[in-house]
Amino acid sequence: MTETLDIKITKTNKSRLEETDFSNLVFGRTFTDHMLVADYIDGDWKNFEIVPYGHILVSPAISSLHYGQSFFEGIKAYKHTDGKVSIFRPDKNAARFNKSAERLCMPTLPEDVFLQSLAAVVDIDRDWVPAQPGHSLYIRPFMFATDQFLGVQPSKNYKYMVLLCPVGPYFSKPLRVKVETYYTRAAEGGMGYAKSSGNYGGSMLPARKATEEGFDQLIWTDAKEHKYVEEMGAANVMFVLDGKLVTPLAQNTILDGVTRDTVITLAREMGVPVEERKVAVAEIIEGAKNGKLTDAFGAGTAATIAPVGSISLNGEEYTLIDPKEREFSQKVLRQLDAIRYGNVPDTHGWNYLV
Ligand code: PLP
Ligand code: COI
Repeated sequence: MTETLDIKITKTNKSRLEETDFSNLVFGRTFTDHMLVADYIDGDWKNFEIVPYGHILVSPAISSLHYGQSFFEGIKAYKHTDGKVSIFRPDKNAARFNKSAERLCMPTLPEDVFLQSLAAVVDIDRDWVPAQPGHSLYIRPFMFATDQFLGVQPSKNYKYMVLLCPVGPYFSKPLRVKVETYYTRAAEGGMGYAKSSGNYGGSMLPARKATEEGFDQLIWTDAKEHKYVEEMGAANVMFVLDGKLVTPLAQNTILDGVTRDTVITLAREMGVPVEERKVAVAEIIEGAKNGKLTDAFGAGTAATIAPVGSISLNGEEYTLIDPKEREFSQKVLRQLDAIRYGNVPDTHGWNYLV
């Protein structure tokens, strides 16, 4: 940690906390009282401020609106049984934040500045961190270009902001998932590994088509042949196949998920063999047919561990074993929750206390 970050704080004079219904939270709809804002001007980060949550004034010509120089992160803070608040593995997000920034020709943010900025705003709104099981405070850091200029070139000025949302479970039931064999999320040489806003914009039409067909999520496949599994919606996808945890390598076209890394680490500790490799759609379907596929789930910050109930390929649906009977994902979720809510020793140093 270098110097303490200088942050100007202006608190709200009317908190919305009392009027917020924490038993009916819709993901991403409820914002806390405050947000953090900073500017990148003349080659430097400055003007770090925590202000009441609200609208911001920007020019209609900012290049993030026109050319998509914009990206984000997703992180969660948890309230421990003893009342402490911690942020889960934010150092991993700091590193990925800068990978995204580099891919989009945007300025990086020093890791300690990123960590201190999150801690400062979470600290001010710590009473908003929900205490109910399965709930948390979703942290949304993001950066966007602010030059008023319609020429296609990297902006010189940027804004970095952090929003906070109290959230409950993202998915409420096992997912009916379709293997996407036409649309593509990312290709080699593209931006798949970055948390670039445009990746999400491009996913909306295929996702809507899948919803219209009755599915909850898509499994993205490789851009060239649509033969290999990549990700599942806004989460990494993981399988237990023949007793091994199998997941696509987080390279290039795939977001290197923090939850994915956490699950892999816990699996190894449980003695479950892990294979990070190319995963063919055909072997997953074969496993669903012959019973060797004993678990399948999405892994992500928002999604947590989201069980896949069935997988469809070219109109054929394969129902997987009942999620309640899945040994691996149940055990890993219990372990993950125990760590994040502070109920077991944090032997990996994953909880960043606020
Ligand atoms: N893949 C995509 C496309 C995502 O949006 C996310 C969510 O952040 C993930 C994977 C999972 O990453 P993480 O576990 O770091 O949230
Ligand atoms: C996250 O898990 O943080 C995500 O990015 C998912 C989000 C797009 C809802």
